[in-house]
Amino acid sequence: MTAADPQELLALADATATAAATLLAEEGAQQRPEVAATKSSLTDVVTEMDRRAEQLIRDRILAARPGDTILGEEGGETPGTGPGVRWIVDPLDGTVNYLYGLADWSVSIAAEVAGTVVAGVVAVPLHGETYLAVRGQGATVRTSSGQTTVAGRADRAALRCNEGVPLAQALVGTGFGYLPARRRVQGEVVSALLPRIRDIRRGGSAAVDLCSVAAGRLDAFYERGLNPWDYSAGGLIAAEAGAHVTGLGGRPASPSFTVAAGPGLYEELAGALAALDPERDADAGAVAPADALKGPPRPGDPSSGKLTG
Ligand code: IPD
Ligand code: CA
Ligand code: CA
Repeated sequence: MTAADPQELLALADATATAAATLLAEEGAQQRPEVAATKSSLTDVVTEMDRRAEQLIRDRILAARPGDTILGEEGGETPGTGPGVRWIVDPLDGTVNYLYGLADWSVSIAAEVAGTVVAGVVAVPLHGETYLAVRGQGATVRTSSGQTTVAGRADRAALRCNEGVPLAQALVGTGFGYLPARRRVQGEVVSALLPRIRDIRRGGSAAVDLCSVAAGRLDAFYERGLNPWDYSAGGLIAAEAGAHVTGLGGRPASPSFTVAAGPGLYEELAGALAALDPERDADAGAVAPADALKGPPRPGDPSSGKLTG
């Protein structure tokens, strides 16, 4: 296998994401996941399953391609031995949904060569769907039944995003970070946008949201503060389905901002968002940290130990 064979990289990403998704789905069905730790804030949780899924992914990729670099959300970047492939991995995108038994969570794996994402897979096991894309070769979805259609399209059909949707008729997905100072501004932005569009959806997995843009289930998606493991695979899938996937002001998608929409809507939405100055955070001192809010333990808080119910 050569680093420059995106189809083979896609096949490895597909097999690996499928194995991790199966592990997560089986374990999640057997017992309610528990919070193992918190990261940036009390609401930013990690379960033992995030870690186990990432370990499975690392083991499989390195068994097939020992010299490659892996950037995983839970384990950080492990440098490879040469200028090969960098794998960008979110072992469980949508951990909060997973914790609560909601279906919108995914395994996201992208293969990057010389700084460009060339292949991406997002497996969404509770939807029975796996989204796949190779740069320049389009995006597809494979369903578990082989019969199901995505937004009216045939099984494993080439995905196409919606085009020419006016802003006023756009169904727009978004998400929120884990830090109160960021959420304060994200709330301001969404409240200014909401009266101007059809509606907002907050699905809980940015990777799934980007695939929903590819499948025409959302007209657009935007979020401030994503990490490369959130948007690399889904961003390629949306772009290969015809969407523009960028940052604001002509910049590339980045942790500062990501917006994805079909031609026509993209220009209007990106302009409307830029006018709201969304690439900022509130003064942290002026926002009560979630950690300091008093109240009874909530499901998923480490103090409550386990999700009940
Ligand atoms: C999160 C999800 C969520 C988005 C957050 C991400 P995680 O990823 O993608 O939809 O709004 O910004 O951090 O923490 O579940 O892997
Ligand atoms: Ca994520
Ligand atoms: Ca994650």
